[in-house]
Amino acid sequence: MKSATAIAHPNFALIKYWGKSNVSGNIPAMSSLAITLDSMTSETTVSFPNDLKKDTWILNGLEQPSLGQIQLPCEYLKKISPIDQSCLIESNNNFPTAAGLASSASGVASLVSALNNVLETKLSNQQMIEVAMLGSGSAARSLYSGFVLLDVSENQVTCETILEVEEWPLNVIVCVTSTHRKTISSRKGMEISRKTSPIYSDWVSNHHEDIKLARKAITERNFHQLGKIAEQNCLKMHQVMKTSQPSIDYWNLATHVCIDNVKVMQKKGIPVFFTIDAGPQVKIICEPDVSNEVVSVMERVPGVQSIIESRLGKGARIIHE
Ligand code: PMV
Repeated sequence: MKSATAIAHPNFALIKYWGKSNVSGNIPAMSSLAITLDSMTSETTVSFPNDLKKDTWILNGLEQPSLGQIQLPCEYLKKISPIDQSCLIESNNNFPTAAGLASSASGVASLVSALNNVLETKLSNQQMIEVAMLGSGSAARSLYSGFVLLDVSENQVTCETILEVEEWPLNVIVCVTSTHRKTISSRKGMEISRKTSPIYSDWVSNHHEDIKLARKAITERNFHQLGKIAEQNCLKMHQVMKTSQPSIDYWNLATHVCIDNVKVMQKKGIPVFFTIDAGPQVKIICEPDVSNEVVSVMERVPGVQSIIESRLGKGARIIHE
């Protein structure tokens, strides 16, 4: 039986997007800049069992009631494929799903890569970006390695690696403070913020400056500057969420305590900074030589349930066909 398996890794935005300019096309209202990890993985296998009546998605061993957010990329690819059979999609994450750890980005990137291979659709890189975005606004970033810019300009969204992993190896320490699914999806949360936060338009209009500063810091390998702008941008995004109606707050007590510990490490001169997405997990970016020290501080923080260590990693790829 024909099949293909692809893997992709989550990416964490250092300069984030929160809000869409086109909700049905899932187009972000602003650019974003992210790092792709290596140790966390989504693996997706697509096959065509003969007796399968309809497209079926099994996520972490559980059959899903519908294709949900992968429906649009699946439909798009099946429409242009020479193959017309129901497909079985089996996806597994080696880390908590839908808990603010970017599982949708890595899941969708691995899915689109596997489908493009098995359905023989031969998409160009630009088409891959567009199809991945139908599933998740941040998924295109997981197609690429290292430091990745998703650039949103008036008529087009492009995505590219701006610095490779080897050119600036950094480590990421993920402090998991809850493995529960988030109560409000990013997609819904962004819409609430766009419609109700009084600071949403400032967030969108000032965003370009943050991208510019972060790009400069990355080009110059300036850890301090990158950390400063990334933390500010992250806190701005959470302020947009909190000032929405109803207010959106993904943090828990441990999230706050983790941030306090990062601040203490920074005062001691340890090269670290934090970022937090739509969930309570705190992601700490550091230089590799302080990684062990950061882990030993963070594993003692009350409320930190587990720690995932990662380097920066590669983009989505086929591992079996
Ligand atoms: O497109 P989504 O649903 O993966 O939303 C991503 C939202 C954030 O993680 C909070 C920000 C970002 O740019 O990754």
